[in-house]
Amino acid sequence: MSENLTERLCISIENNEVMQSTDLSAFIQGVASRSIPVNEIEMWLRCVHTHGVSVEETTSLTKGMMNSGAVLNWQGLDNVVDKHSTGGVGDKMSLILAPALAACGLRVPMLAGRGLGHTGGTIDKLESIPGFNCNLTPVQMQEAVKKVGCCIAAQNDAIAPADGLLYAIRDVTNTVDSIPLITASIVSKKAAEGLNALVLDVKCGKAAFMKTEHEAIDLAKSMVETSKGLGINTVAQITDMNEPIGSHIGNALEVLGSVHVLQGQGADDTRDLVALQGGQLLELTGRASNHEEGVKMIHEVLENGKALRCFIEMCVQQGTNRKIAEELATLPEQVLPKAKHVTALFSPGTGYVESIDAMALAEVARELGAGRFEMSDTINHGIGYVLIANKNTYLMEGQEWISVHHDLDLSPQHLKKLHQALQINSEQSADFQRLIRIIT
Ligand code: URA
Repeated sequence: MSENLTERLCISIENNEVMQSTDLSAFIQGVASRSIPVNEIEMWLRCVHTHGVSVEETTSLTKGMMNSGAVLNWQGLDNVVDKHSTGGVGDKMSLILAPALAACGLRVPMLAGRGLGHTGGTIDKLESIPGFNCNLTPVQMQEAVKKVGCCIAAQNDAIAPADGLLYAIRDVTNTVDSIPLITASIVSKKAAEGLNALVLDVKCGKAAFMKTEHEAIDLAKSMVETSKGLGINTVAQITDMNEPIGSHIGNALEVLGSVHVLQGQGADDTRDLVALQGGQLLELTGRASNHEEGVKMIHEVLENGKALRCFIEMCVQQGTNRKIAEELATLPEQVLPKAKHVTALFSPGTGYVESIDAMALAEVARELGAGRFEMSDTINHGIGYVLIANKNTYLMEGQEWISVHHDLDLSPQHLKKLHQALQINSEQSADFQRLIRIIT
């Protein structure tokens, strides 16, 4: 039976004809219930990967995947929002954004992932907080959001279960890099959160999955159109991912960097990127009359402590002892895991920082235990970096530019790669612009 169904779908794709929507939804239900054999799923994935499918079919596919599991219901509320980032280095935005938006009166039922390849994952970062539980059921997510305004939970099989299997098979069949498949995978999980508005941070550059602006724009357009096709007010921001984001990189270190921003301090570019994303969502939901006002509202809750308070309540709601959550908010270094060694690296010359190669830093950190090579690998949460310099900082020869937090010894190869990651120049470069363009 399923053989005929899969064949019909593949023939339509190969002949550039529209897949029957009843066939497509039966196929997705079959994937979710595990009744379609893996070899047939592989055949269909290869077909989509090779020939592509239209935006309308991507939307039907996404809808089918969204409906393959629980869909959160907010009973008519119009302020339910989220953000998705395609992944970067030092990208700790979710940890700050979710409580900041909650402090502005929005509801954020955020589903997040673990580290993928060289990029860090929000769930791995949160799991460096003692007691923090990311394994929430859909009912627990709704309760948490009703109580504190936001939650951050790990993707699980209750929501969009078809994606779990499809993603695993894409991984082993080299069919991950297909715009319709990436779109359906990401948007189906976000749509199942029952959102009114979504902001997408589509990164491009050396340390992003999309290396060129052109590729990032194609993915952004596909995701925006599909998400809007499902009734979610969506905007994508294309951002530069060549330079690391902020001063802290690594799991526990990014929690530390996030707490600094929530305390009204921390790295300026981190705060600005959170405000850019949050401002967009406040505008999309009509809570701000324009983007500028939305940006101002985010800065306000970061400065007046309201976002930090929501962060503490989110930690408590998700299992962290209140005393520890309060301490995390005041003296985060005392609560978070630390690496055994901290090694300072020094500038080889005098001049302006021209670039810091985010990809090189990420690759070394992964080898030192901050990321995984196999799904079964365990993360060492204390590993990472604190950057003392960023693009256009003026450094003197011998001045420290980065501290490396590590347990394993740094090999000569690691040190060489880290030293080469810093480029300095006698001339100052143009100001670094993280935001490249907006796709509506
Ligand atoms: N993240 C996802 O969840 N799915 C993809 O396909 C790629 C990144």
